[in-house]
Amino acid sequence: MTTKLSKACVLIILFCFIFQIHSKSNANSFKPKSLNERVDSVLNLMTLHEKVGQLNQYSSSWATGPESHQENKFQDIKDGKVGSMLNVKGVEATRAMQKIAMQSRLKIPLLFGFDVIHGYKITFPIPLAEASSWDLEEIEKSARIAAIEASASGLHWTFAPMVDIARDPRWGRVMEGAGEDTYLGSEIAKARVKGFQGKGIGNTDAVMACVKHFAAYGAAIGGRDYNSVDMSERTLWEVYLPPFKAAAMAGAATFMNSFNDVNGVPATGNTYLQRDILKGKWNFKGFIVSDWGSIGGMISHGFVGNSKEAANVAINSGNDMDMESRSYIENLAALVKEGKVAIGTVDESVKRILLKKFELGLFDDPYKFCSEKRENQELTNPQHRKSARQIAQKSIVLLKNDNDLLPLNKKQKVALIGPLAKSKNDMLGSWNVYWPDNSDVVSQYEGIEQRVGKNNLLYAKGCEVNDSSKTGFDEAIAIAKQADIVILTVGEKSGMSGEARSRSNIHLPGVQEDLIKAIYATGKPIVILINAGRPLIFNWTADHVPAILYTWWLGSEAGNAIADVLYGDYNPSGKLTITFPREEGQIPVYYNHLNTGRPYVRGSADTTYITGYNDLVRTPRFPFGFGLSYTSFNYSNLKMSSTKMKPNEMIDISFTLTNTGKVKGEEVVQFYIRDEVASLVRPVKELKDFQKIMLLSGESRDIHFKVDKEKLSFYNNKIDWVAESGTFQIMIGSSSENIELKDTLQLVD
Ligand code: BGC
Repeated sequence: MTTKLSKACVLIILFCFIFQIHSKSNANSFKPKSLNERVDSVLNLMTLHEKVGQLNQYSSSWATGPESHQENKFQDIKDGKVGSMLNVKGVEATRAMQKIAMQSRLKIPLLFGFDVIHGYKITFPIPLAEASSWDLEEIEKSARIAAIEASASGLHWTFAPMVDIARDPRWGRVMEGAGEDTYLGSEIAKARVKGFQGKGIGNTDAVMACVKHFAAYGAAIGGRDYNSVDMSERTLWEVYLPPFKAAAMAGAATFMNSFNDVNGVPATGNTYLQRDILKGKWNFKGFIVSDWGSIGGMISHGFVGNSKEAANVAINSGNDMDMESRSYIENLAALVKEGKVAIGTVDESVKRILLKKFELGLFDDPYKFCSEKRENQELTNPQHRKSARQIAQKSIVLLKNDNDLLPLNKKQKVALIGPLAKSKNDMLGSWNVYWPDNSDVVSQYEGIEQRVGKNNLLYAKGCEVNDSSKTGFDEAIAIAKQADIVILTVGEKSGMSGEARSRSNIHLPGVQEDLIKAIYATGKPIVILINAGRPLIFNWTADHVPAILYTWWLGSEAGNAIADVLYGDYNPSGKLTITFPREEGQIPVYYNHLNTGRPYVRGSADTTYITGYNDLVRTPRFPFGFGLSYTSFNYSNLKMSSTKMKPNEMIDISFTLTNTGKVKGEEVVQFYIRDEVASLVRPVKELKDFQKIMLLSGESRDIHFKVDKEKLSFYNNKIDWVAESGTFQIMIGSSSENIELKDTLQLVD
């Protein structure tokens, strides 16, 4: 009894003592610590090994690259050797893994990253398709919804947006970016960052963006993935860096470097890119993660001799986190002890990462993003599906519509033919991250069946996407003959474009174009749907078939969105953001090329001694900015507030846009300039602004663009951003080729 009593007394005294200390420390910590102070207070507690651990990122078993060393993962987390995991998803899994991190000495929470590239559970169109919408609000919304779902699923970080400018459709990763234009790419980069990060990281519905691949990854020689990049300093600054800068200025939390070398220096070990430009000139305060194994990749490049040298070069050049190379965890501590890497350099990287963990609120609650309730709600939110359908509609590009064959009439009997008609998985495209669940994807067959009813719909596969058998042709021809209209859906399977999916032959694969020819021979009217992750080549089809819709890979709502456009519930408004070549031999072909001393002038009689190929028409198949509508638009009444402008002035350029057709529709009006004479050869045209305008049939609106010095500037050879006085052509049109209104502007001193 007495022992029990005395035990109780001891407990009470102890409680009072702790309570007193606690209230005193509360009184002392009256002034809340800043996040940077909190970062320092954690850093001060860390051993060198724990610091290195924060810079180490492992993948879970779902991998996007060669897996390495899975065996000791959990023990390493407990030992404080891991700062972040990628490819763990879902509340249950992330919570379980975070619990392991909470067993480590300092209980520093893990960051969970994932490739949420175009949607999470609800899949949106691939980024190249979304870019074709030229609709920044919709693009932001798609990233917003992806972030809402991903964060509800325990994730903190997406490896997106990919902002690599790409001029080569042989490169499989064109599907992941916004196309070939720097201005449009920069606007889209900002919209995506805003969408992912919402009202700011730390909100439970936001994820950190990761801008990639820094830098110039899209310029891989020959479009061969992971290949070297060799370009002038000027081109790097003028064409490839601006979308990265725009994303950094929009507050992107993190960056990823890239596999390629730039002029001989791998991006992962590139001090100029990472320290001088990104962390220096642009004052970027977030952290840089390597690409998958790209620190180790510097050994294959022949840039370093071994993993230890790779770690040394990477950290010193500004790469903060090591994704799956294990170069840091195996070598950094030794490098510090040997004096090759300053502890201050390691500390700087650790602080950048800890700061993001604080900003996310993970130190206050490591399970902040782990709510099953929210996960269930958001992953089944019907609004997300609605938005996916809307942006999918806007991503479709109408390439041809002779004699207004489209939109179709629901009463027509349809023969739906083609290897992709019933596919669900191929609608999702590459980076379909919620696999293997694709049951709720709407196939093209389902979308069209809903419109016309089962009895009005005949179906035949015709052939496979990519093989040589024509045994299915007869059945396809037979159903075509019974129908009023044929819808033929062809293209690429989802694995044919994407990372490591470069192709030397980008013609419509297999015997698909032969199938089109065979059906065409029946004399039935044909609409072609092309589902793909890149521009494909289909010259015969483009020359003969009356109606073509480029439908890319449109995501979960593909079938519904396609049916909406086919039957006129949505009037197509998409415009290409990448040039479509006539042949592979024409690549690279892009609209904003420089003029030569012997240029090709559109419409002039071809002569031999001009730039181009003797055996090919000089123009592309479909130009940048091109896309048709079910209505027509008239551009008139160009006005300029002045035809002369001083560098500190701004002028207003306006015109009237009228919907002259019978239905309402959206037009993407494009504003281009050309610097006529400059100290360096300038592009024949550069997009400087655009607007997407909705007009009712018969409606007119005055559209305004502003021009200031910024829009007339370029990088000179000293990498100074300058505007030179002289004449500038002002061009407004519906595509880079179809210029409707033109004038000139003088920039005067
Ligand atoms: C890709 C990155 C991706 C990473 C993680 C790499 O192979 O290049 O874009 O974020 O894998 O999955």
